[in-house]
Amino acid sequence: MAKLFVDCNRTEGHINPELYGQFAEHLGRGIYEGIYVGEDSTIPNTNGMRNDVVAALKEMKVPVLRWPGGCFADTYHWKDGIGPKENRKKIVNINWGKTVEDNSFGTHEFFELCKQLGCKTYVNGNVGSGTVQEMDEWIEYMTFDGESPMANLRKKNGHEESWKVDFFGVGNESWGCGGNMTPQYYGNLYRRYQTFVRDYKSDAPIAKICCGANGDDYEWTEEVMKTCSYKAPEHLHCFMDGISLHYYTIPTGQWDVKGSATKFDTAEYYKTLYNTNYMKELIQKHTNIISKYADPETVGLVIDEWGCWYDVEPGTNPGFLYQQNTMRDAMVAAINFDIFNHNCRVIRMANIAQMVNVLASSVLTEGEQMILTPTYYAFHMYRYHQDAELLHTYLSENPNVGTVKEEQVEKITQTVSKSSDGTINVTMSNVSTDASENIKVMLEGTKGAQIIEAKVLAGAMDAYNTFDQENVVMEQNFMDYSIQGEEISLTLPPCSIVLLRIAGK
Ligand code: AHR
Repeated sequence: MAKLFVDCNRTEGHINPELYGQFAEHLGRGIYEGIYVGEDSTIPNTNGMRNDVVAALKEMKVPVLRWPGGCFADTYHWKDGIGPKENRKKIVNINWGKTVEDNSFGTHEFFELCKQLGCKTYVNGNVGSGTVQEMDEWIEYMTFDGESPMANLRKKNGHEESWKVDFFGVGNESWGCGGNMTPQYYGNLYRRYQTFVRDYKSDAPIAKICCGANGDDYEWTEEVMKTCSYKAPEHLHCFMDGISLHYYTIPTGQWDVKGSATKFDTAEYYKTLYNTNYMKELIQKHTNIISKYADPETVGLVIDEWGCWYDVEPGTNPGFLYQQNTMRDAMVAAINFDIFNHNCRVIRMANIAQMVNVLASSVLTEGEQMILTPTYYAFHMYRYHQDAELLHTYLSENPNVGTVKEEQVEKITQTVSKSSDGTINVTMSNVSTDASENIKVMLEGTKGAQIIEAKVLAGAMDAYNTFDQENVVMEQNFMDYSIQGEEISLTLPPCSIVLLRIAGK
């Protein structure tokens, strides 16, 4: 039987809550309909935000929200989205289905949403088609409390107090939809633009996020880091607090035919998990490059787009990136969460793409209906790791599973952390489609094991919730364990996540 040894007194790093971040872009029904329905909607809302969706997301514990894109960010001119709604400019959302964007969700609405969610703010600026002055003024509009043209404009638009911008992205995918730049060119632009992301609040500096690589484009990271670092006077410094990385899990690995969200066989299931495990290598190699130019514990990786990307649901607008979400997505989330947790010293933030109705969403809506996806439950079960200390663990055995020899994955993936009140949080996932796993959790450095919460999410690899059957997959109480002193014996069902919370002693 596999044994998971947990050293309850040996910590290996702090798990920033922001590793469980979300991303909402002006794309398809991600914001409009999915989150924002406007105050006059018949769907119950508070200041235009859907009450059902906000309540579900609060329960899931969203630590930070990235907005307004994505590719949309580099076409977004923030002044179009302020002031009386009837006067706001209507523009074409050129990247995503060429739909009319009426700008009714803008800066004020974003901060209202974050207030309702109780989360930090991550605003992505426009380098691709915006000016330095525009970015400079946006920062002033959002964060300056005194007397100034932009602060006065904000007050005139009904918000006396400034807001807190926790993170600011200087461009998005500047190697692609954000301007097709070379790393040298972007690096120089980054140095210039970030100068004008000023800290109006001395007690709340804005963390500046530089646009990083597409997957394994290590040359991008190398060149940008080289361009953006300087020696002064003894140490290397860098004009940034984090550098991003985008990596999507695509079952086939091909952008033209990615694979269906719901119809796949065991081979494609394991191939998807194998592809998602590539995240480990990406983190390690990009971090090695960052460490040549900065301390990676100070300039962290910001994985602000990750998750599965499939072919859109048949019959839906291809530009809306709407896809269903199965237990396979919960396994992908669990694998990524564990990778992020185990690399928590060098990862500053991670944001799944995206939050509602787009790509690997936690919440799906249809009219006034809302359902929660397996990805939602994965986030919900892992929420206790937010702001906890990663504990040292050792797993005695972990067989590989998979149908193709070269594309096998480890059967068990896990994280154990300790909250500030001493509670030990164990999440373990068994990614096998058909074989359960007996496992013993051996707690070292604590007296006895008293379980205060035990939950499980389990189902067939392709099980999912629909608007007709919304509870096919859901978190349930877990009973299949026994305790002897400091040892907990349990059985992990196939394709499952188990959460155990153990009282600190
Ligand atoms: O998340 C969808 C898109 O994927 C984003 O707009 C872009 O940054 C990435 O290519």
